[in-house]
Amino acid sequence: MSKQTSGRPWSVFSELPANIWHSIFRNPLPQSDLGRSSTSFTNFFLHIQPVKVHRHSLRLTYTWGLGLMAFFLFLILAVTGVLLMFYYVPSTTQAYDRMLHLRGTVAFGIFLRNMHRWAAHGMVAVVFLHLCRVFLTGAYKKPREFNWVIGVGLFLLTMFASFTGYLLPWDQLAFWAITVGTSIASYAPVFGKDVKFLLLGDTSVGQEALLRFYVLHVAVLPLLMSLLVAVHFWRVRKDGGLSRPAEEDEAFPMEEAEPVAVAAEAGTGAAVASASAKPTLKAALEKKVYGIQGIVRGPFTKIGNVPDRSVFSWPNLVLAEVLVFLVTVAGVLIVSLYFNAPLEDPVNIMHPPNPAKAPWYFLGLQEMVSYSAFWGGVGIPTLEVIILLLVPYLDRKPGGVGKWFARERLLANSLFLTFVVVNIVLMVIGTFFRGPNWEFVSPW
Ligand code: HEM
Repeated sequence: MSKQTSGRPWSVFSELPANIWHSIFRNPLPQSDLGRSSTSFTNFFLHIQPVKVHRHSLRLTYTWGLGLMAFFLFLILAVTGVLLMFYYVPSTTQAYDRMLHLRGTVAFGIFLRNMHRWAAHGMVAVVFLHLCRVFLTGAYKKPREFNWVIGVGLFLLTMFASFTGYLLPWDQLAFWAITVGTSIASYAPVFGKDVKFLLLGDTSVGQEALLRFYVLHVAVLPLLMSLLVAVHFWRVRKDGGLSRPAEEDEAFPMEEAEPVAVAAEAGTGAAVASASAKPTLKAALEKKVYGIQGIVRGPFTKIGNVPDRSVFSWPNLVLAEVLVFLVTVAGVLIVSLYFNAPLEDPVNIMHPPNPAKAPWYFLGLQEMVSYSAFWGGVGIPTLEVIILLLVPYLDRKPGGVGKWFARERLLANSLFLTFVVVNIVLMVIGTFFRGPNWEFVSPW
């Protein structure tokens, strides 16, 4: 609460810090359950979160914070990306020079570019790990099927955003990686050549391609991703919070439940049991007064699920989020401090490097292309994406949700892990074991 001024002439100044603080944060730190729930309700940033969250969802070993980490990397990319836009010019005659300026003359320019580059690689890896976590815990099952589909969309957009960014420095690495990447697209039957032309705005990588990749990278893809991330988060809430094993929702023995203050839960006119009186949950529920807000069906956490094992989001969830945020930022800062983003020679279309390699996350694809252009570049990847999209609609057995490597999911998890291992092995071969003319070489 804002304090009244003491009336002394200098008090305006002595009370300035406190008055500014209270004008922004109107309520003191909450001491009661009512306070904790209204903290979530009344704060712009917190109100997209539930007032209460299940204890199981807060376990680090369940989510490993991967979804949040992906989101924070996306934010870091947005901030560093906007700062880079102040210097970058999407022109084949200027782009490379601007990279040199960032490296040599702009204060913290190289650090900014490092942060953007490593956060982008990190995001591709973290989003993939998040996908693995969701699969291996069976979290795509009913009612979360559609959120899985949105997730697959986010995964593809993340890869595409990273790919479009690759061209922008306009160095040898960028030029040839995109030349290889876009020629893979042209192996698609019927539309292949048209897709390549649409992407490049020309028959080969040049000024038109640079401009198109730039617009896709700084505007179209981030906007699409922001929209999908918003729907993804909204669905997490509408699907009843994060997945958890069925037994986690079994009624809590009332006498063992923690004391509660009823006011946070009850409707208007509720009897308010003070926290100091320490009523049991049973006693509290008996006094509870309900007001009909609407007829609700479905998987909302509160339906048929009181009393429960949930805790207030403030401060439990908020602290966990701050922790993941700090770890993510620290990780990006440390890597950016020690490793510089690569910048090779300026583009020379007469001298392709041998071999010309795509970014690492496409090297599995490039390896497959070396066996069959169509199957490796288009056929198998398209089938993989279709199967990923259909996973929740093909696997309809309800068991094994909310647990890592559940016994009931042995077959599904084994198939998925085989798919992951094969893709990683192909990526490792493409990265380390392929030399000039895509011949097999030893990395040692
Ligand atoms: C930009 C990319 C993504 C972001 C920012 C993101 C963010 C999140 C966050 C913050 C959560 C809740 C916390 C957690 O589970 O760690 C979540 C849950 C979920 N995500 Fe993602 N996600 C992304 C991509 C994906 C992908 C690629 C998939 C799968 C194909 C996916 C499927 C899901 C599902 C099904 C849930 C609910 C999990 C559950 O209930 O246990 N997400 N996501």
